[in-house]
Amino acid sequence: MPHYRRSLGFTFLEGTKLRWEDLFRGREEIAPTASFKTYPQASKVSLPRVHPPAADIFEVLARRRSERLYARRPLSLEELALLLWAAQGVTARAGRYLLRTAPSAGALYPIETYLSVHRVEGLPPGLYHLEIPDWALALLSPGNFGPEIKEAALGQGFCETAAVVFVWSAVPRRTMAKYGSRGVRYIFLDAGHLVQNLLLAAEALDLAACPVGAFLDDALNQLLGLDGEEETVIYLATVGRPGR
Ligand SMILES: Cc1cc2nc3c(=O)[nH]c(=O)nc-3n(C[C@H](O)[C@H](O)[C@H](O)COP(=O)(O)O)c2cc1C
Repeated sequence: MPHYRRSLGFTFLEGTKLRWEDLFRGREEIAPTASFKTYPQASKVSLPRVHPPAADIFEVLARRRSERLYARRPLSLEELALLLWAAQGVTARAGRYLLRTAPSAGALYPIETYLSVHRVEGLPPGLYHLEIPDWALALLSPGNFGPEIKEAALGQGFCETAAVVFVWSAVPRRTMAKYGSRGVRYIFLDAGHLVQNLLLAAEALDLAACPVGAFLDDALNQLLGLDGEEETVIYLATVGRPGR
C-alpha cells in the first residue's frame, strides 16, 4: 500500500473552510496587534498630494500586461506617489478605520508596503516603508538594494533593472485576531486587490510593471528586518518606464 502524505495546501484549504457549526463554536483565540506599523526614528519624506489623471478603466484593463523590460529614465516622485495611492491611498475615514483604495476583509489592512527605490527623481535610493497615517516614506536603509532583491527573487534580472520594487509584507495577526486561521485566506485576497490596483495604475500612467511571487521569503524578511512570522513578505511588484 503506497504511503500518501496529504499536501499542506489541501490541509490548509480543508481546515479553513467556513461551516455553519463553526459559527456557534468558540473562535481560535489570537491576540490582536497594532493596525499600523510606523518607524518613528526614521527620517521621513512626505509624499506629494497628487491628482489622479483621468483614464478609461476598460481601456486600461485591455492594455495591461506584465512587462519586464525597463528604460534607465527614472520615475518622478509624483508618479511614485500616484502608484502608492492606487495601492494603499486613504480615501475615507469611518470611525477609527482609514479606508483605502483597495478593499480589505474587516477593514483590517494586514498588508504593509515597502519600497526598494532604485531610480526615482528626488528620492535617494534605499529601502523605504510607507507610513499610512502621515502619508510619508520612512527611510530604513540608504543605498541601492537592487542586487539583493534580484538575488532573493531567484536571480530575476528585472528586479534589479526596475526603477522601484514594491515589497508587500503581511502582519497576519491583524486579520487572524478576527477570523482565525481562515484570515490567512483573506490576507492573500487583500494582497491581490491592492497589487492589481498598482498594476492598473502603472498601466494608466504608461509605466511597465510586473508582479513577482517567486522569491526566497526569508532573504527578503532579513533585508527588511522582519521576523518572518509576526510579519512576513508575501508579494513583490517591479515598476519602471517601458524599455521597448
Ligand atoms: C501571483 C503571481 C506571481 C507571479 N510571479 C512572477 C514571477 O515571479 N516572475 C515573473 O516574471 N512573472 C510573475 N508573474 C506574472 C505572470 O507570469 C503573468 O501575470 C502571466 O504570465 C500572465 O501574463 P500577463 O500578466 O501579461 O497577463 C506572477 C503573477 C502572479 C499573479
